[in-house]
Amino acid sequence: MHLPDIRRVFLIVLDSVGAGALPDAADFGDAGAHTLRSVADSDRLFLPNLRRLGIGNIDGLGFLGTADSPGAAVCRLGELSRGKDSTVGHWEMAGVVSPRPLPTYPDGFPQEILDEFSRRTGRGVLCNLPYSGTQVIADYGEKHMKTGKLIVYTSADSVFQIAAHEEIVPVETLYAYCEAARNLLVGEHGVGRVIARPFTGQPGHFTRTSRRHDFSLPPPQDTMLDALSGAGYDVISVGKIKDLFAGRGITQKYATSGNDEGMRVTAKIAEKDFHGLCYVNLVDFDMLYGHRQDVEGYAAALSAFDRWLGGFLPKLRENDLLMITADHGCDPADNSTDHTREYIPLLVYGKSALPVNLGTRDTFADIAATVTDVFGVDFPCAGRSFFGEISDIRVHLAQLARQAALRAYCPYSGFHVGAALLGKSGKIYTGCNVENGAFSPSLCAERTAFAKAVSEGERGFVMIAIAGGKDGVISGICPPCGVCRQVMQEFCAPDFSIILAKADGWEEYTLSDLLPLGFTL
Ligand code: THU
Repeated sequence: MHLPDIRRVFLIVLDSVGAGALPDAADFGDAGAHTLRSVADSDRLFLPNLRRLGIGNIDGLGFLGTADSPGAAVCRLGELSRGKDSTVGHWEMAGVVSPRPLPTYPDGFPQEILDEFSRRTGRGVLCNLPYSGTQVIADYGEKHMKTGKLIVYTSADSVFQIAAHEEIVPVETLYAYCEAARNLLVGEHGVGRVIARPFTGQPGHFTRTSRRHDFSLPPPQDTMLDALSGAGYDVISVGKIKDLFAGRGITQKYATSGNDEGMRVTAKIAEKDFHGLCYVNLVDFDMLYGHRQDVEGYAAALSAFDRWLGGFLPKLRENDLLMITADHGCDPADNSTDHTREYIPLLVYGKSALPVNLGTRDTFADIAATVTDVFGVDFPCAGRSFFGEISDIRVHLAQLARQAALRAYCPYSGFHVGAALLGKSGKIYTGCNVENGAFSPSLCAERTAFAKAVSEGERGFVMIAIAGGKDGVISGICPPCGVCRQVMQEFCAPDFSIILAKADGWEEYTLSDLLPLGFTL
């Protein structure tokens, strides 16, 4: 069984919704950080839809409540890049690993940068510190008006911001100064964004105008967005995606004011025919709640997303794939307002995608590898595609057999066996061995599965997966006993496929391999 050709992938980034500290979190001052666990402390967290999809089945997220039969493939992804900001996170999920974080300037920019900036603009500089955007114009606006010097400031993020009064520096000129800064701030000083911050008004009553403009650092290499759009696919940006990629590889963009508009726009896009990727960033989790240490607000925003998801899932078509993930953490209950170095959760839902547990994986770039694989676009990157796993029924059956083995009733032998049997109707029947003190009435796992299926009316079979081991530990294969082979002979054709699962992977045989010259009446 394979997925139908996928036409649309929705990749939704819940900004900062981290899934627990990465092994190297202490290097970033984030040992023990866990955004989702902190948010789960709030009574306002209600995630029935994400739970049904299997968010609680992700390694380390059991506290959210596991689903017995999750609707989505799930995993958590580690970050190879040495950073924890949105830009680096989105670049890695688009296939570009950054060996260094984007630079930040808690003590202001170095003098040589400012000197060169002044030389290129012909204007001096005021402030040069991390500052609140409204406070900086209140404190330096008047001096700026008198001297014509530019107000340069930063924040905890990798930004070079230039504030100027619209009557002192016309907006177009301010943009040109930003371009000059952008050209200057590359390499070691390649800040994520240079931002024009025009303002107006009189001393004591300055206000910022709406003509803010961001000049983003372009990704250092081609991303999956370039690969997809280069191959003729649509790449639709919703929210700040276009800024994070400096517009590169994007064919259509929708600016949004926050989560509500982002979700609304995404639902509208789902009504359209497009062929390619719709890449969405929902920024409020990070901007409004993570940085402001607001656990309750964070929980309410996540619950609102879950509610929206309940209405969005039914809109998805047979050949759509939905991925829900994050870009870094921002634990609202730790002792800083800063981002946190965390795993990101990933849920992959499609009407015919298999809900396999993909475990813990090394890099966000698995997303890029998978999305490009889905569309058959060649894009070598650090990630590994899991498209085969979510579209190959054998992976799913082997996993179900391993899980069934955990349910074995085997107090006498201590030998656990599980089976997962695929009927021609498409239904899957699982079974485990069920022992009995009078040994002979014991049931094997395979025959339990066959008995369930046949008694439900199923008569034709495609494939069975079998997993087993002493004390429930599955290492090598567990071939079926002679009696079970004979039962297969009763109901199955010689090419019936038998998957003997190992801890990871399997060996595949046909019934005629395992029972040549089988007896039939
Ligand atoms: N068992 C199976 O469930 N399937 C087989 O094909 C081989 C054996 C079980 C039966 C018994 O509960 C335990 O393994 C030890 O024989």
